[in-house]
Amino acid sequence: MGRTGGPIVGNVTTPGGQRLPVFADVDTGVDDALALMYLLGCPEVQLAGIASTAGNVSVHQVCRNNLDLLQLCGVTDVPVSKGAEQPLSASLRTAEDTHGPQGLGYATLPAVDAQLTSYDAAEAWVRAARAHSGELIAIATGPLTNLALALRAEPELPRLLKRLVIMGGAFDYRGNTTPVAEWNASVDPESVWEVYAGWRAAWGDEEPTHLPLVLGLNLTEHIEMTPTILSRLAAAAECASTPLCESDERGTRSTAANPLIRVIEDAMRFYCEFHFDQGEGYLAHLHDPLAAAVALDPGLVRFRPAPVDVELTGTLTRGMTIADWSGRWGREPNALIGVEVDPDEFFDRFIERVAPLAKRLA
Ligand code: BDR
Ligand code: CA
Repeated sequence: MGRTGGPIVGNVTTPGGQRLPVFADVDTGVDDALALMYLLGCPEVQLAGIASTAGNVSVHQVCRNNLDLLQLCGVTDVPVSKGAEQPLSASLRTAEDTHGPQGLGYATLPAVDAQLTSYDAAEAWVRAARAHSGELIAIATGPLTNLALALRAEPELPRLLKRLVIMGGAFDYRGNTTPVAEWNASVDPESVWEVYAGWRAAWGDEEPTHLPLVLGLNLTEHIEMTPTILSRLAAAAECASTPLCESDERGTRSTAANPLIRVIEDAMRFYCEFHFDQGEGYLAHLHDPLAAAVALDPGLVRFRPAPVDVELTGTLTRGMTIADWSGRWGREPNALIGVEVDPDEFFDRFIERVAPLAKRLA
């Protein structure tokens, strides 16, 4: 059983000491950036590729953020691919109000020369899945545009993965973009529909060996980063810094000498200000880093299986995700939905991984 009493899905060991191949599809974004830092801070992870998705900011800016962040972290061997510029059929909306003009709050990263892959993000999904057939752990923390396009190209993709963690949707919970829709689902609902519809189809008449692990706002909003936790992170990285405070002048910059802690603090300040303005307190929800943590240890969360679908046509409810807990649709489950998490355990793990990464860059 997992720590919250639910079943542990998968395992966290590395047979034979091999590193775990992980593929990340992100719309970087403050919390996506912290998810990437979490993965880069895991010695057992081999980041097999990063797909850049349009969402929080344009896909060009997401590519820039991914390349620059890797460089800041001293990583030069992770392929970054550009995804579609638009959702499958909707027009792109972006969220600079939430994530800042470049997607990283007040943080600025030194621009680098590194190149994107010659193939696009959908192809990157398929290549990574084939290269690590049955072993690849994937996370999707932005709109599902690239993943849907990858499924069109390779309908067997779900069978090639070991695990998929999706941050998206809101289950029995209000939205953060419309009254009922979460951001990632709301930006490209058609891609959500294609991914969930395509999942069981990959196995035909067979029972799927795994279902997507889905983290909605009902779960991720429990992951509240506070100035106190940020100070714990800086201290663990042995970096002097000035704690963030809601009475600080807006846009005050980090005094941290460590380049990664500085970026985190400058990014988080913007994100905390946004949450404060939403009436949620001087804190920020780390939706996407939870997906990174769950990718490596699903036991961190308790899940319940359910058939999931997304509203595509409702004039008031487009982008709303629905879990049919009571089986009224008569469909088989196509997802495991996160329903309980221990935030303290998450933040312990976050600091255990990101602080050493920061220390290495000092
Ligand atoms: C999701 O929306 C984005 O703004 C965040 O990066 C996260 O993936 C939360 O609704
Ligand atoms: Ca995101």
